[in-house]
Amino acid sequence: MRTVTSIKKAKGETPLTVITAYDSLFASIFDGKTDMILVGDSLNMSFNNKPDTLSASLDIMIYHTNAVCHGAKKTFIICDMPFGTYTDETIALKNASRVYQETDAHAVKIEGGTERAHIIKALTTNSIAVVGHIGLMPQFVRSEGGYKIRGKNEEDTLRLIEDAKAVEKAGAFAIVIEGVKADAAKRISQAISIPTIGIGAGSDTDGQVLVWSDMLGFFDEFQPKFVKKYLNGSDIVKNAVDEYVEDVQTRKFPAKEHTY
Ligand code: KIV
Repeated sequence: MRTVTSIKKAKGETPLTVITAYDSLFASIFDGKTDMILVGDSLNMSFNNKPDTLSASLDIMIYHTNAVCHGAKKTFIICDMPFGTYTDETIALKNASRVYQETDAHAVKIEGGTERAHIIKALTTNSIAVVGHIGLMPQFVRSEGGYKIRGKNEEDTLRLIEDAKAVEKAGAFAIVIEGVKADAAKRISQAISIPTIGIGAGSDTDGQVLVWSDMLGFFDEFQPKFVKKYLNGSDIVKNAVDEYVEDVQTRKFPAKEHTY
């Protein structure tokens, strides 16, 4: 089982692996396979079919984090702090403390760079382990009018490097870098001493994270460029359900071996 210390030490070694999970069943399948499991607020889209992550509440995140913690006992688990739950230090501390008190998650994740460093510091100085999240930040989708790839020019790359340094200084033990040009992500990773976990940020980060339903082919509506599909999950499931329906309709199921 990974710890904050071993995750920090992994920088520059074999890349860290992270997968999302939202329920106990899949968490138990993933358990022990990746270094970390993220209970991402992406569940609002992939599990709830909402247009963005913004309506995921803390109660929802705690419910799903509990399910994941019950299913995955051997893996370091991170709970995403949802939109609106870390607007200042006091609110963040109250809400992140709920995550620690009501679930067995090992850490929380917070979106934001320099402007949120004081919030990360309020948590880390109160014994809450924090993963930062910079670059394309899905919780800003409405205020920024869409999902925008970052690090496309020198000015933005320098801003992201400053963000990463501020998040590190505030005590985060790792940072997710999402939707950033590969060269910029490489420079950010080189500029700090904690591991960077990339998603849509090229191959030079210290680890990678993918949303499970994207990588296993269960979310068909849209496939971002950065996703590699390791399974055609929805096709496999649809075919199996078709087969079941046919078996029932033709009385092939239940057969003798399924009958008392
Ligand atoms: O919510 C999520 O799944 C995330 C990942 C995309 C990093 O934040």
